[in-house]
Amino acid sequence: MYNSKITGLGYYVPDNVVKNDDLKEFMETSDEWIQERTGIKERRWIDPKSGDTTAVMGAKASRIAIERAGLTKDDIDFIVFATLSPDMYFPGGGVQIQEMLEMPTIGALDVRNQCSGFIYAMSVADQFIKTGMYKNILVIGAENHSGGLEKSTRGRNVSVIFGDGAGAAVLSRSEEAGKGILSSHLHSEGKHAKELALIGPSTKRWVPEIIEANDPDDVSYYPYMNGQFVFKHAIGRFSEAIVEGLEANKLQKEDIDMLIPHQANLRIAQFIQKKFQLSDDKVYNNIMKYGNTTAASVIIALTEAWEKGKIKDNDLVVLAAFGSGFTWGSVIIRW
Ligand code: UT7
Repeated sequence: MYNSKITGLGYYVPDNVVKNDDLKEFMETSDEWIQERTGIKERRWIDPKSGDTTAVMGAKASRIAIERAGLTKDDIDFIVFATLSPDMYFPGGGVQIQEMLEMPTIGALDVRNQCSGFIYAMSVADQFIKTGMYKNILVIGAENHSGGLEKSTRGRNVSVIFGDGAGAAVLSRSEEAGKGILSSHLHSEGKHAKELALIGPSTKRWVPEIIEANDPDDVSYYPYMNGQFVFKHAIGRFSEAIVEGLEANKLQKEDIDMLIPHQANLRIAQFIQKKFQLSDDKVYNNIMKYGNTTAASVIIALTEAWEKGKIKDNDLVVLAAFGSGFTWGSVIIRW
């Protein structure tokens, strides 16, 4: 059996910076509230005139990751694309990336696991590499949240949190024992699906029905989040996923060199840091700059941490995420 190793990383965020105070144009909020409750100072929102979309940003991040892997687009055997905000209802974004990068007719798979999407995508890619089916897989997380948020006081508990961006990794076959992805751990609990969800439009609620109802109180086509309920579950599940990953590899919390938590809320990341008694240099957070970019958050943070030289050869890197579904998981990597 082979191992999979990250050989290339890249990310892209839109140029348009939206500071907390800028949001006051649309809603009653304050820089103080947002920073205190979430840690966010600013986020990137696509300027609609820029041409950026979920797939376009994913392609931009992918080009960087492929080049850094020392590969060309023709060396990629498969695409796994994680997003909750695809450019189209169908088909998925993976095929758009395949077209944008002018790749041959390789397979492209979309993963719809929201905040833990990148963890699921990495795990899927890892299995394909371990079995020997593929050699180089492009794994992408990208989101365009800004186009679908309710930018008003009614939607403020959700809309201040989310930002746009994309990240990509190339996972490659490696025969170096004990290096690369050591294990991945995936979970879900569908009974809480509606606690963080965007219900309509969907096949249960088609667009003509929504238009016909013309109900100004209908918020089913905006994301809904039961914030405190999600927060409570996030804290528990994050911890479980990390412990499970460590135990599976007979490792201790002291062995962690770098924890990259999904950037949902700085308070969640700080809670986890404290629980695992990790020093500041062992946890990487960038929610302050980008908000919560859902399936892109872990890969943007991993790429930034690596670019800043915070991840070194042989480091134990732990990726963990929790979100809508509920879905959660971890990936344990020996760099
Ligand atoms: O990535 C997927 C996973 N997501 C998460 O893990 C997110 C988990 N949840 C959270 O991060 C937090 O619950 C939030 C940041 C979303 C909200 O923080 P909170 O401390 O749970 O606040 P809250 O929703 O209980 O609201 C407290 C108050 C309310 O006012 P009243 O009812 O006390 O008068 C809200 O109306 O804050 C008000 N509020 C706001 N005020 C200013 C809600 N949003 C805002 C806002 N600006 N943007």
